[in-house]
Amino acid sequence: MKVFGIGLTGYIGSVVVEKLHAAGHSVCGLARSETAAQELTAVGVEPIRGTLGDVQAIGNAARTADAVLGFSTGGFLTSAMAPGAADRYGSTVSCILDALEGSGKPYMQISGTGFWFGNAWASPGLVLTEDIPPQPPYFYAGLLAPHDAMLKSAHRGVRSLIVAPGQVYGRDGGYIGPVARRFDCARKHGAIYALPPGQCGAIAYVHVDDLADLVLLTLDHGKAGEIYFGTTDTVPSFELAQAVSRVCGFSGRVDCLSEQQLAAVDGPFSPGDFKVNLLASSVKARQALGWKPFQPGVLECLRQMEGRVDIASVYPEKKRQAMARTVRL
Ligand SMILES: NC(=O)c1ccc[n+]([C@@H]2O[C@H](COP(=O)([O-])OP(=O)(O)OC[C@H]3O[C@@H](n4cnc5c(N)ncnc54)[C@H](OP(=O)(O)O)[C@@H]3O)[C@@H](O)[C@H]2O)c1
Repeated sequence: MKVFGIGLTGYIGSVVVEKLHAAGHSVCGLARSETAAQELTAVGVEPIRGTLGDVQAIGNAARTADAVLGFSTGGFLTSAMAPGAADRYGSTVSCILDALEGSGKPYMQISGTGFWFGNAWASPGLVLTEDIPPQPPYFYAGLLAPHDAMLKSAHRGVRSLIVAPGQVYGRDGGYIGPVARRFDCARKHGAIYALPPGQCGAIAYVHVDDLADLVLLTLDHGKAGEIYFGTTDTVPSFELAQAVSRVCGFSGRVDCLSEQQLAAVDGPFSPGDFKVNLLASSVKARQALGWKPFQPGVLECLRQMEGRVDIASVYPEKKRQAMARTVRL
């Protein structure tokens, strides 16, 4: 199968590329810079120059592919709020759906349980399932229209599929999410800050390799217009902070702050990381697709990092990703 992907140089996309090649597929990918083109070429992916919203390049690539994968929604948080970012993402999704109309070919687009953050925030005990309409946080509101277009496109003869992972961990880690934010806190302050344990919830995670397996299974067996949650491990956020503290050589010490203090020293998302219960069920993916995740959980992966990693080079900020590629769990 010839697969066209967007976001294949990223944390999740690059692991999916490995699995696509291992399964015997050929892969081409959108490259928005010369650096991205070189990175894709180096791993055997044919680069196609363009960026989100370049509907001609993206439409042509989608038409000539057997399957399309989208791992970029145009940026995380602030950049998703940049003028035009949501429109560029929306026009990308529309042009892929148009290109595949009537072909029955699969188009998988990544989402995330964070897209249901509003539901979780309003109902702390809720375990999310795919039939619950998402209430995205304000910085993802612009992604609601493309999400709906994906779901409604099943009747257009496109096998449109959404995979919504929990927070992703494993290998050298990405730069998105609560684990990365705890490492950033340690790097910036030489300490791990948290809310007191009694005020902390829990978050559902998935290992990047298990997620990549889920993406390939969805391509093969996913049903048109369906969402599949990908979660494997639910971890209390205070325990996660203690585990990162041990990796950082702080012996599990966590300094508890008030919500206002935490936001001031550790950024506006930090209190939310600790307060929210972001729980989701992956029963559907396991039953309908035969997904069998087998990677170690978050706490075990963090334990394996103790005493053997340079904390400047794991769960990196974007600028640190090149260095982080030398680290493997
Ligand atoms: N990581 C997580 O914990 C997590 C959890 C749930 C959902 N997700 C979602 O999964 C997706 C991928 O996450 P990730 O961690 O793999 O992110 P990532 O490492 O930042 O990768 C993003 C990818 O998208 C590409 N990209 C970004 N903007 C683009 C644009 N305007 N045009 C073309 N390509 C563009 C990047 O290419 P360059 O090489 O050019 O930068 C890179 O290949 C995101 O939508 C994220 O919200 C992630």
